[in-house]
Amino acid sequence: MQTLTIRTPDDWHLHFRDDDMLSETVPATARCFARAIVMPNLVPPVTNASMAMAYKARIEAARPLGSQFEPLMTLYLTNQTTAQDIADAKQAGVVACKLYPAGATTNSDAAVKGIEALYPVFETMQTHGMLLLIHGEVTESHIDIFDREKVFIDKHLRPIVDAFPNLKVVFEHITTADAAQFVSSSSDNVAATITPQHLMLNRNDLLVGGVRPHNYCLPVLKRNTHQKALQDAVKSGSPKFFLGTDSAPHARHKKESACGCAGCYSAWSAIELYAEIFDEMGALDKLEGFASIYGPAFYGLPLNEDTITLVESPWLVPDTVKLADGTDMVPFFAGKTLKWKLAKSLVS
Ligand code: DOR
Ligand code: ZN
Repeated sequence: MQTLTIRTPDDWHLHFRDDDMLSETVPATARCFARAIVMPNLVPPVTNASMAMAYKARIEAARPLGSQFEPLMTLYLTNQTTAQDIADAKQAGVVACKLYPAGATTNSDAAVKGIEALYPVFETMQTHGMLLLIHGEVTESHIDIFDREKVFIDKHLRPIVDAFPNLKVVFEHITTADAAQFVSSSSDNVAATITPQHLMLNRNDLLVGGVRPHNYCLPVLKRNTHQKALQDAVKSGSPKFFLGTDSAPHARHKKESACGCAGCYSAWSAIELYAEIFDEMGALDKLEGFASIYGPAFYGLPLNEDTITLVESPWLVPDTVKLADGTDMVPFFAGKTLKWKLAKSLVS
């Protein structure tokens, strides 16, 4: 049996949600990741240090017994965010702030209108060494949904990066050749996360033969040439591209609906999904850098000391996962077979 041992990975972008949902999402991620960057788009959003620390405590309380999993907390930027909020958050151990353009995605109504108004906040972040994580899509209704990432680069991202050369910026869950190109050609202070779904799928997987709500996420899947560009980016072994699942749980009835929610719940099989696509690309030798080294290096955090082992042992991703409130959820890749399996969970 083939095996693959890599340094223990981290997930540099995911959504745990809150309350009951934590009993599902936290153990699922702690299964194979030592740390994760936790998105702050709760209702209400996590906008200050005390909210972030209270949320961190709820996540830690949901860890399986003995788990050392470490949630890395983020703040949700709004037009009300102040320099003092940033200083307090840094002091409390918050590692990054998330910029959602208003209306861009799930629970982003409270987010930023007029990104330029936040420049004084970015200035403070740059001074404090706080990372800026960006959902890079414009939200103007006249811009086609498939063009929103590219327009964001030209209209907002390039100006931010130019104005704050020492601010570390993560362009989250990139989906286009334009984004990969922008990141590659930017300074070392600009990096990107890439999800399993954007490496494995393209928009045909969303729309051909019927609408597939469980493949719907934001930014939406793009055409296959963009998928290929993302694959090339990770295959290149560039340390600018690293793992961020964007695992985003939604109950089944909220996805299978006339107006379905955006998000793929990939935590159940996250590292196996990446192993599958890296294997398919003939790039398994690049998995460890992407999953376990480039992320902490960019964030300025220590590498994990331990390792995980994947074995070649095909298994079926379950059709559904039961939630504490009795509803169920359909994990990403449900009912499909994955070739690699984590030999031993990090939690028992
Ligand atoms: O598909 C997505 N789901 N994209 C996001 O940016 C947010 C996420 C969520 O919170 O459900
Ligand atoms: Zn996200």
